[in-house]
Amino acid sequence: MYNTIWYKIRSNEMKDSPFNYGTTVSGHCFTDRRSETAKLRSNLLNGINTTIISPRRWGKSSLVERVITDINETEKNTRTAIIDLFSVGSEEEFLESFAREIIKASSSKWEDWMSSGRDFFNRLIPKLSIGSDPYTDFMLSFSWDELKKNSDEVLNLPETIARSKGIRFIVCLDEFQNLASFNDYPVFEKKLRAAWQRHKSVTYCLYGSKCHMMTNIFNNPAKPFYRFGDIMLLQKIETKEWVDFIRSGFVKTGKQIDEKTALEIPLLMKNHSWYVQQLSHYVWNLTEFKATYIEINSALKELINANTPLYQKETENISQTQLYLLKAVVKGETQFTSAAVMQKYALGTPRNVSKNKAILVNSDLIHDIDSAFEFVDPAFELWFKKQYFNQTYSF
Ligand SMILES: Nc1ncnc2c1ncn2[C@@H]1O[C@H](COP(=O)(O)OP(=O)(O)OP(=O)(O)O)[C@@H](O)[C@H]1O
Ligand SMILES: [Mg+2]
Repeated sequence: MYNTIWYKIRSNEMKDSPFNYGTTVSGHCFTDRRSETAKLRSNLLNGINTTIISPRRWGKSSLVERVITDINETEKNTRTAIIDLFSVGSEEEFLESFAREIIKASSSKWEDWMSSGRDFFNRLIPKLSIGSDPYTDFMLSFSWDELKKNSDEVLNLPETIARSKGIRFIVCLDEFQNLASFNDYPVFEKKLRAAWQRHKSVTYCLYGSKCHMMTNIFNNPAKPFYRFGDIMLLQKIETKEWVDFIRSGFVKTGKQIDEKTALEIPLLMKNHSWYVQQLSHYVWNLTEFKATYIEINSALKELINANTPLYQKETENISQTQLYLLKAVVKGETQFTSAAVMQKYALGTPRNVSKNKAILVNSDLIHDIDSAFEFVDPAFELWFKKQYFNQTYSF
């Protein structure tokens, strides 16, 4: 009897991998980030606008979700909204989506949403409608002519609602750099900044996955969003935290991995959040009882194979001299414009080098770390070494 129950529990647990990648993570899949969580929470509750910048898939969205979930549980006088701008393609779309999400976040009752058009707008008259499930089918639209003239009413909406209800608002905008692709963005950017900097009851958290674009929006003294608030440059999760996280994931699901073996996972993936979770998942999946280097090696091959089409595409999209520059980066060169390096890797002229460097940085393929360049994607780097230098990635 006992054995049967144990077996059932164990096989149920086995179905659910303790590792997760591809979506934002929370709960038992979220590790560490104690100081970042505390800092972001404190900023957002104390009215300090915060921008989070990091290379792709290090954990910005997960961090914000974690902090917002926590704030929703403890701060009854604060309303929060997380708005993903990934698929928002124009200023009008942004304003409609912003208004809709702010109204939804302002109350848990959909009846309140419907009256908000009357209560919180003066010149604009939003068209509001709900479908069979009010909570998922709430729609809002404006006459676009009117919207263009009165966009400040939408931009000020969270402040208007917060003041009228005596509450505070925290508004998080994910993939913020997407706005920079709008026609007329420079004008819009000034409007946003002018409206938001006057808000006393709203705190903004702005973040996005195009590192160089975010840096250009927020860290450029010539731009309106310069000094908008605190800039958090999110770091990687430390090796020790990953090792503990991986080991506990194995133990929780009735498997084992010793410290030395677990250590190889963050080492191979250079502590990159997404890839550490992906490799951990593959190792976990291949392990029956206790993981060894054999499982790590097979899992690594599986991970590289799974991502190969992506990496092939990545290299197809760049020019020959950019590819040569990547080769120089992978070989650890730092003086790209020295005559010897330019000749060895056929990099062209110093002008070519600096142009290509900018292109590779702008497309987030390489980034500047301690005055040297590094691949942003650690698994792409392993694939690249194998592909172009036949350097094996097993160890
Ligand atoms: N705190 C964390 N603990 C464990 N794993 C994490 C953590 N944060 C992120 N990850 C892993 O990294 C992956 C990417 O996380 P997330 O989507 O939050 O990153 P992001 O920086 O917002 O990415 P993007 O730049 O693509 O928007 C997650 O799916 C998860 O596997
Ligand atoms: Mg994200």
